[in-house]
Amino acid sequence: MRLIIMGPPGSGKGTQAKLLCDRFGMTHISTGDILREAIRNHSPLGRQAQQFMDDGQLVPDNLVNDIVAERFRRADRPAKFLLDGYPRTLNQAEVFDVVLRELHVTITAVLALEVPDDEIVRRMSGRRICPKDQSLYHVTFKPPKQPGICDICQTRLIQRPDDKEETVLNRLKQFHATVDELLEFYRRQNLLREVNGLGSIQEVFASCLASLQAGKDQC
Ligand code: AP5
Repeated sequence: MRLIIMGPPGSGKGTQAKLLCDRFGMTHISTGDILREAIRNHSPLGRQAQQFMDDGQLVPDNLVNDIVAERFRRADRPAKFLLDGYPRTLNQAEVFDVVLRELHVTITAVLALEVPDDEIVRRMSGRRICPKDQSLYHVTFKPPKQPGICDICQTRLIQRPDDKEETVLNRLKQFHATVDELLEFYRRQNLLREVNGLGSIQEVFASCLASLQAGKDQC
């Protein structure tokens, strides 16, 4: 299985990515995680990306395209993968298509989570992450066993710097500006599976599985 998961910021891509990767044995590749790690490591990539991310803007296409192309051209690229947060613009989708063709790799499906903006703001304001192992929590919808502490490694949870309300609104604006042509790109290739992202985490997971199954039945 080789999947792409799309959706507005905070729609649950990372949450569903974890469940889908556990279920199907895929490697989770998140451009957001790669960029945040680069910032933590003060690498040249991190220095270039930081200001864009802090402002809730997209990092320039060429930087992100290079990161993904490099990951996929490596001999140890995963056979089964889920791409989370990439592609995000038509340019990224077109460049990624060229890389996939060159490597003779095809995508199984593109899941697009649909969540209205007011719910996004609710989810982002309550999100907490573990800075050590990147586990995701929500103060109401997915609370840790001990408030403020990661269940897995007992590290103190933090709020992502780009989850401030003003930055969230910028990220949503960016999403709406680029999403339609991206959806159309994958709709034309008959890869697009639109999934209702409202409901509990398990309900959304069930909808993702059902849409993957429906796609298989069509083939
Ligand atoms: P990235 O890290 O990709 O962030 P994003 O797309 O904004 O998405 P998030 O990670 O914020 O949310 P999510 O959809 O994964 O939701 P989650 O599962 O956490 O990108 C960050 C930045 O990096 C970008 O702004 C950009 O600057 C840059 N960047 C990255 N990729 C790029 C690219 N390709 N091109 C250019 N720039 C790029 O869930 C959110 C919260 O809701 C959690 O607390 C969770 O517990 C909770 N939750 C999840 N599902 C549910 C549910 N069903 N019900 C209730 N709560 C739920």
